[in-house]
Amino acid sequence: MKALVLSGGAGTRLRPITHTRAKQLVPVANKPVLFYGLEAIASAGIKQVGIIVGDTAAEIQAAVGDGSGFGLEVTYMRQEAPLGLAHCVLVARDFLGDDDFVMYLGDNLLQQDLADFVARFEAQRARAIAPRLGEEGPIVPSAQILLKRVDDPQRFGVAELDTTGRVTHLVEKPTVPPSDLALVGVYLFDARIHDAVAAIEPSARGELEITDAIQWLIDEGEVVLSEILEGWWIDMGKLTPLLEANRLLLEGIERRVDGDVDSESQLHGRVVVEAGARVVRSHIRGPAVIGVGTEVVDSYVGPFSAIGPGCLIQHSEIEHSVVMGTSRVVNAGRIEDSLLGYDVEVTRSARRPRATRLMVGDHCMLDLL
Ligand code: G1P
Repeated sequence: MKALVLSGGAGTRLRPITHTRAKQLVPVANKPVLFYGLEAIASAGIKQVGIIVGDTAAEIQAAVGDGSGFGLEVTYMRQEAPLGLAHCVLVARDFLGDDDFVMYLGDNLLQQDLADFVARFEAQRARAIAPRLGEEGPIVPSAQILLKRVDDPQRFGVAELDTTGRVTHLVEKPTVPPSDLALVGVYLFDARIHDAVAAIEPSARGELEITDAIQWLIDEGEVVLSEILEGWWIDMGKLTPLLEANRLLLEGIERRVDGDVDSESQLHGRVVVEAGARVVRSHIRGPAVIGVGTEVVDSYVGPFSAIGPGCLIQHSEIEHSVVMGTSRVVNAGRIEDSLLGYDVEVTRSARRPRATRLMVGDHCMLDLL
């Protein structure tokens, strides 16, 4: 079993953050989204991983390297233009060979780990090769998809199932959804998928859709199994669910203090203070993480905050927010429900005339007091 991780795409829906970085590297609870996927792949026992990259190739490669940090062997493949998820399978043809593989969208975050999902597919296929005596004709699935019940299925690929959970029909972003079962960005395939991606035509949005490729398998009489995800799932490529993802992941952290906390500071609950961080005369209420080398001075950091590395938070209050890194928040009053990128400066000066002075890039949002 190999893995194919899709990490191209423009990330237009996450602007302005993705003006300057790959959407898969946006940090959630101080860790890039993509890293959660790679860790899940590694703990499912998979070693060989192909990563499809696009315009942000250099950034992804710098972050992931050869994969050894995750216990993986990573091969990079370049997709020249965002021509669709099924096109990525075409690009990866040589890497994949005839092996089974899990295809994982690098901007998806899910609570469930992959091991059971993969094991079920492999067990089903192994049973088909060696059926037990007296068993009915074996079912050999050639694909298995992960689904999640959602309120807005028209924004996703949507599946219809028979009573046994086999997929009977799939449609990409339907105006009238046939069910509320959205395709989560995790798919298992055998080598039959290569015939499918070669056979389909581009969709109305000009992309080779993986949804159409799986429908092609069904039309050819192949068995496509499904599993319904009970835990949470966040597609970071859609809208701006970053704060929501941050909240869900911080729910799971354990208290750990590797940095310095002075005697005048208080930490409540599950707080992570990374190495080299300093907390001075401040109050931190978890779940919250304070990144490597960050200083929190005379401030309050409230629940569901992730302060990235190398920041300074001084004479300020911040809660339910993500500060990505090397940013300065000084004399800023109280900040909530906010998303700050890298090298951001939020300060209040005594300069006259008193005024709000802004230097704000494209696609930003400011909600003033
Ligand atoms: C893609 C798939 C869609 C799936 C979604 C999950 O959508 O085409 O079927 O439900 O990922 O994240 P896209 O992100 O290309 O709009």
